[in-house]
Amino acid sequence: MFPIHRPRRLRKSETIRRMVRETSLSPDNFIYPLFVTFGKGVRKEISSMPGCYQESVDKIVRHAKEVCLLGIPSVILFGIPEHKDETGSGAYDEHGVVQKAIRAIKDKIPELLVITDVCMCEYTSHGHCGIIKDGDVLNDLTLELLAKEAVSHARAGADMVAPSDMMDGRVGAIRLALDDDGFEEIPIMSYAAKYASAFYGPFREAAESTPQFGDRRSYQMDPANRREALKEVALDIEEGADIVMVKPALSYLDIISDVKDSFDVPVGAYNVSGEYSLVKAAGKLGWVDEKRIMMEILVSIKRAGADLILTYFAKEAAKILNK
Ligand code: PBG
Repeated sequence: MFPIHRPRRLRKSETIRRMVRETSLSPDNFIYPLFVTFGKGVRKEISSMPGCYQESVDKIVRHAKEVCLLGIPSVILFGIPEHKDETGSGAYDEHGVVQKAIRAIKDKIPELLVITDVCMCEYTSHGHCGIIKDGDVLNDLTLELLAKEAVSHARAGADMVAPSDMMDGRVGAIRLALDDDGFEEIPIMSYAAKYASAFYGPFREAAESTPQFGDRRSYQMDPANRREALKEVALDIEEGADIVMVKPALSYLDIISDVKDSFDVPVGAYNVSGEYSLVKAAGKLGWVDEKRIMMEILVSIKRAGADLILTYFAKEAAKILNK
């Protein structure tokens, strides 16, 4: 009771604040997303995501080197193929953009951990995350393709695969296929609780993956649901997920916290494109202090319970943390 208790005593100087700080960020916590496209010498800025680029394999390798030098341990790759078709065949093509990028990065920077996003939406002409029949995404047929995609990434040298499609049973199907092909040591980071979110808007421009009809609400989760996230996560862990992820991050800090409290596996959180673009836009207008907002957002995601943060801010934040 006041005046005995004065919490301000422990806030008096930066030194004491540093000593009692409960949450600390490190570049070790970050995973940086990269967008790989076809061609050579391509580095095209994504208009809704300033500072992020679609890059051809040669440019990606240089960019990955920069990421590694900042002390960020890992990148996650997304592909923009030259051709899209009904079955997303570019996703499991041995000579696909992501497969090429994995080989090139692992060849030049073996210490950088390469994760791949496993999904069909960047490769299908209709932009959905699976095979379409009568306007609906077919779950079980899609699993075969996702498994093929994951195996082709592993064969190219990926260190970890990250399924983001939200089909039922995909983690189990991918685990089985990887093991069958001799990749029992490749971990799976599942996008376990992934919500049907408007915060993915800028990413869809970046990955050219906007659905041509309908939306993703028949497979991604309803933003209103909290308990269902625990069910999704439990199923993925049962099926063999090594790391589980919540996505998006900011509007879902309660979910991150629930998952952290309920399970003993590392928790990832995806600080998605819309969360990034909002900060960039307001920063550009001079409405907020962009750098401080960035660090506050990242620390809040960590405080909520995330061990790993996938974020387009990784390089900028690492620069600040490395000072
Ligand atoms: C699907 C995928 C998406 C994102 C990552 N993987 C988009 C979607 O589900 O529509 C979104 C990432 C972001 O917004 O930053 N392959």
